[in-house]
Amino acid sequence: MSPAPALAGGLPLLGHAPWLALRPLDFVERLRDHAPVALFRIGTRSAYMVSSGELMKDLLITHQSKFEKGGPLFEQATKLLGNGLAASNGEFHLRQRRLSQPAFHHSRMGVYARAALDAAVVVSGSWRDGEVVDLGRALNDTTMDILARTLFSSLTAEAAAEIRRCLPALVAGVGRRAFIPVEFVHRLPLPVNRREAESLRRLYEVVDGIISDYRASDLDQDDLLSTLMLARDEQTGEGMTTEQLHDEIRSMMVAGTETSATLLLWAFQVLAARPDVERRVHAELDEVLDGRPVGYADLPSLAYLGRVVQELLRMYPTGWILTRRATSSVVLGGHRIPEGADVFFSPYALHRDPAVFADPGRFDPDRWLPERAATVPRHAYLPFGAGVRKCIGESLAYAEITLILASLMGRWRMRSVTGRPPRPVAGSTLRPKESLMRVEERRR
Ligand code: HEM
Repeated sequence: MSPAPALAGGLPLLGHAPWLALRPLDFVERLRDHAPVALFRIGTRSAYMVSSGELMKDLLITHQSKFEKGGPLFEQATKLLGNGLAASNGEFHLRQRRLSQPAFHHSRMGVYARAALDAAVVVSGSWRDGEVVDLGRALNDTTMDILARTLFSSLTAEAAAEIRRCLPALVAGVGRRAFIPVEFVHRLPLPVNRREAESLRRLYEVVDGIISDYRASDLDQDDLLSTLMLARDEQTGEGMTTEQLHDEIRSMMVAGTETSATLLLWAFQVLAARPDVERRVHAELDEVLDGRPVGYADLPSLAYLGRVVQELLRMYPTGWILTRRATSSVVLGGHRIPEGADVFFSPYALHRDPAVFADPGRFDPDRWLPERAATVPRHAYLPFGAGVRKCIGESLAYAEITLILASLMGRWRMRSVTGRPPRPVAGSTLRPKESLMRVEERRR
């Protein structure tokens, strides 16, 4: 067994951290091109990047029990997430996952789709022809509204507004901790930390009030929260405590809002830069819907739009870099990974591997036509991860993103304000640099 090939160019004390911080997307591609399992350093600590589809299966499925969620980008972030699905580990995570799964059963998607379509109507109704809007912000508000209504179907307008006001602090706080993983910085009496603490306290109060109301009424309200509250452990018959419910709700709020909103922002920026793709989406919408509002049942007929979403997830996976920690020593690709090591993988680098995707920098939805998609190795495309930590909201995200696109594109075209092609910024998610766009009413 040989040691994993080490990437050259690490600096004393800093290792490769400056490249990861300053040119993160080039860096993950450089690691991919260096070796399927590449050794590099963050500060003085060794880390491994796994970059081949075959080894992704070993990491995320075959040897999943030898890895847990962990690593430098993750630990501080979990301080805000608590012990919910996105952050917990081991048996506890598996139990919570089993209890939460029914809330994401496909039989519930129709109800959640309604929440997405209602939210799309609200945002669409707020725009005027020709105005410049902060689309990133509008889409964040929209996905927050959708998640709030998916979690709590009988939400009052005041509670919804309060959640929308406070939730960005939670999402931003998780992102900030991932990139400044130093505890005391987040405890300094700075205005940003004070605002964050105040927003988190209010968010907790609002959610606590909703949980108490549900407990008092004891009703199944056909939403995510009631499904979580009614779930019982098969072995013990126990349900979730109030604290666990809080943690699960926080996990969903963080994992399920900025991710979808960012992908939608990419969609509008890419379509503005690619009139040929936009024309095909419009033609499909006109043919399938003929002017009527889109509904959940239309999804199978919107095949081209579905391929556009798949291609967006390939080129701009919001979770562009993810981490694990080895809980015991394990062999990957013929190299021993020691217990305690930080292991990274990058859907961004995997999805742009020229050995798997021809002309990887080209936005080409037709690469997802069934006969061409069949040539993509199973674990080379992982926008939602794989194995026991795979995104629990995948079907919900697909439905929500496709329906919002169909609904908004039925009425509006977005136009670039700068005229430049969209540029990615890799932070806690992979976002487009620009957020402003001009909305133009579509005339058929
Ligand atoms: C474009 C949209 C989305 C993308 C790209 C995305 C991506 C991901 C990825 C890559 C993971 C796995 C992370 C890892 O392996 O370390 C994940 C986990 C997760 N996602 Fe999503 N997600 C999206 C939307 C959603 C939505 C809408 C929800 C919920 C309402 C959600 C809830 C979760 C949760 C709870 C986890 C943790 C699952 C676990 O560890 O058991 N996500 N997501």
